This record gives sequence, C-alpha cells and structure tokens, in this order.
Amino acid sequence: MHAWLCTEPTGVEALTWTELPTPVPKAGEVLIEIRAASLNFPDLLIVQNKYQMKPPLPFVPGSEYAGRVAALGDGVTQLRVGQDVACLTGTGGFATHAIARAALCLPLPADFPHADAAAFTMVYATSHHALVDRARLRAGETVLVLGAAGGVGTAAIQIAKAMGARVIAAASSEAKCTLCRSIGADASIHYGKENLREAIGALTDGKGPDVVYDPVGGELTEPAFRSIAWRGRYLVVGFASGPIPSLPLNLALLKGASIVGVFWGEFSRREPQANAAMLGELVQWYAQGRIRPVIDRSMPMAQLPAAYACMGSREVMGKLVMVN
Ligand SMILES: NC(=O)c1ccc[n+]([C@@H]2O[C@H](COP(=O)([O-])OP(=O)(O)OC[C@H]3O[C@@H](n4cnc5c(N)ncnc54)[C@H](OP(=O)(O)O)[C@@H]3O)[C@@H](O)[C@H]2O)c1
Repeated sequence: MHAWLCTEPTGVEALTWTELPTPVPKAGEVLIEIRAASLNFPDLLIVQNKYQMKPPLPFVPGSEYAGRVAALGDGVTQLRVGQDVACLTGTGGFATHAIARAALCLPLPADFPHADAAAFTMVYATSHHALVDRARLRAGETVLVLGAAGGVGTAAIQIAKAMGARVIAAASSEAKCTLCRSIGADASIHYGKENLREAIGALTDGKGPDVVYDPVGGELTEPAFRSIAWRGRYLVVGFASGPIPSLPLNLALLKGASIVGVFWGEFSRREPQANAAMLGELVQWYAQGRIRPVIDRSMPMAQLPAAYACMGSREVMGKLVMVN
C-alpha cells in the first residue's frame, strides 16, 4: 500500500508518499481499500500541529474516506468483505488502504458513490447537529451562513433549506456567492466587497437573522453578532480565518440572544445513539435528493499537496476529493 506519511507535523511540505506493508486488521477492525477521501479543514491543521488532536508520529492524515471492505478482523460480524463503507477515523485516509474500527464504518446503501460518501459525514453531521439540535431552527426562520461556499457552509445551506428556513449565504467572492445561490441560498452577501452589517440589515428589513452559522470567526463575528435578531442563536462552529474572536457580552443581553457552541465530534462520542439517528436521517435525505455534497473537483491521491494548497488559499468551493 501507499500512504501520505507525516513524520514531522511542520506542514504539508513534510508529507511523503511512502510505500508501507499492507496492515492486517486486529479484532474489531477492518481493512479498507480506499476509493475516495475528502479534505476537511482539520486535515490541514493536523499536519501543521495546530489541531486539538495530536496523533503519535508518524501518522497518515485524512480524517474521512470511503471504499470497500477488503478484510475483517476477529469478531466483526456487522460488515462483510466487498461491502462499500464510509469511514470517519480522524486519520489514515490519504492512502490506498486503511485500518478502521468496524464501529466507525457506515455501510453505504446502493447508489451512494464513493466520492459523495467521502464528502458526506463530517460536513452534514456538523451542520445538522448545529442547526437542528443546537439552534432548534424552525421553518420560516432566517439563517445567515458565513463562509457559506466552504465544506460545512454548503452543507448548512442545504440542511437549512431542507428544514424550510430562509438562507442568506455570505462569502468572500462573487463566484462563491453564485455557487451558494445555485444550491438553494435565497440571497447572498459578498463580504469581500459589501459591508456585512448593512447588507444583513437590508436583506432582513432591519430585523436580523434568527440563526447565525459561523465557521470563520475573526473579523466577521462581531458585526454578524451585532446584527442578530431578538432571541437569536449564534452558532460557534469554527475559526477558519485563524483568530478566535471575543464578544462584548452586553450584546447578548440586549438581543436576548444565545451564543451556542457546536462540537459534533464530541457529540458523536457522548451521545452515540442520537448521533446514529441523525446519520440515518441524513442518509435518507441524501436518497431523497434533499442534500447532495458539493464537490469542487476530484484529484488523484498522489496530488494531495496541490489539494492542500487550494484549501489553504480559500479557492475551494464545497469539497475537494482525492481518488485512488
Ligand atoms: N465545530 C465542529 O464540530 C466542526 C466540524 C467540522 C469543521 N469545523 C470547523 O469549521 C471550519 C470550516 O471547515 P470546512 O471544512 O468547511 O473548511 P473550508 O471548506 O475550507 O471552508 C472554510 C471557509 O472559511 C473561509 N475562510 C476565511 N478565512 C479563511 C482562511 N484564512 N483560510 C481558509 N478559509 C478561510 C472561506 O470562505 P470565504 O473565502 O468565503 O471567507 C472558506 O470557504 C473549520 O474551522 C473547521 O475546523 C468545526
């Protein structure tokens, strides 16, 4: 097998495409032949030693992938050799093969291509947990999505629309705004050009959005929070721009607003049954065509450094998928 090996977490440049012995699954594990793996923002942070999870060295990055079960470890009865699965294991995906705990593999229904499956769980689960569970979004409410053309952003647009909400997508370029409207956003704000507060006010008759979905942080957070509606819910999803912003708490008091943390990974560990029910609903929504991963492009696995460069330079719209 081949894998992108991180021996020193000093950045993408230090990764090497290395031949390794194909591993044999232990009890409770399976060997996966990887067909597709998607890039998530934490995959960039983890090779730069900036992510909260710091795996022992050396490790293979790639949190999320899909493929075919090639071998079973002892005691694995819920999967079979040849079955298509999606896996979210934190590491291991940027390779031709990976070992996964069987419990972390989601069997795929027919008509679920590997590329879609590799770009599915992280972004849709995060956005569903955020909007449905944490924000209690209701039909008819207005959601503002920041970084709306990114991975979790595009998923948030589709989930909010599936729930009957009105969506305002905010992003840094006209092309990104166009993409967001093409997947269902009702309106868009180009925050590279427009004043965010004025544009939100104009699109909501001065009332503000009921829910703000923020995976970007930095300079966008305070103007977005100042614009929120009475009883608004501000979803803290991530800090893709780098800086972790601070907010004057009187703003929450003045709007009767809530600042709501979103941490899907921890939710899935602490509340596995609720998480499984949510994943079941998402797979159903996929089958019904209500949600569909936005894949910017697929690239050969050997071109991983170029894919990382696209993500780091904010070029990607939706998801990048590496294929074997
Ligand atoms: N809380 C959770 O459970 C959870 C789960 C998954 C991901 N996350 C977090 O959510 C954030 C987004 O993840 P993602 O996978 O959707 O990433 P992504 O696809 O790269 O999207 C991030 C978006 O952030 C914006 N951005 C602003 N400044 C940026 C910068 N300096 N570098 C890169 N992007 C920048 C970009 O939109 P514009 O160019 O339009 O500004 C970009 O489209 C990350 O911080 C990630 O860690 C959190």
